[in-house]
Amino acid sequence: VPADVAGLLLSRIRDVPDYPRPGIVFKDITPLLADPEAFSALTDELAAFCRRHGATKVVGLEARGFILAAPVAVRAGLGFVPVRKAGKLPGATLSQAYELEYGSAEIEIHAEDLTADDRVLVIDDVLATGGTAEASLRLIRRSGARVAGLAVLMELKFLDGRERVLPELDGAPYQAL
Ligand code: PRP
Repeated sequence: VPADVAGLLLSRIRDVPDYPRPGIVFKDITPLLADPEAFSALTDELAAFCRRHGATKVVGLEARGFILAAPVAVRAGLGFVPVRKAGKLPGATLSQAYELEYGSAEIEIHAEDLTADDRVLVIDDVLATGGTAEASLRLIRRSGARVAGLAVLMELKFLDGRERVLPELDGAPYQAL
């Protein structure tokens, strides 16, 4: 990412201390979304990543991943496929459970939205523990499609999520803008 673009993006992410709980610093992307220049620059960078790695579909992870991934899909001329939290998709789904810090969660995808010919680029706003992205990559593999890569706006490096997703990427590219 060019330094001026990275600087613009960073300047539009707001740190909110003690949200949603005391001691947590929340990374709020709404200032970035509200700035058309920054949102467009982010979309351009992610669409270029899709093209560079030959993606045929863009997967966004609920909910903030949807906001970033949908315009990327349109700009790259590709279809968009949502990974949703369990119980939201009406058709036949593949589902994947994963561990959270406390408890577990489950995500789903419409099985018919991906084919064995697809190369899927996964987009989300934040990589934290990596649990959500890891489970999503596993879902995509189980669908029979190939993973073209994973791109996130931000990585919270101190949580080491990268170590969790790299094995699941199996050599496919990873980018944290
Ligand atoms: C956040 C974020 C990622 C995920 C990262 O989503 O948008 O999807 O957590 O965390 P992880 O790497 O530890 O799995 P959240 O579950 O808060 O959902 P939301 O986007 O619907 O608010």
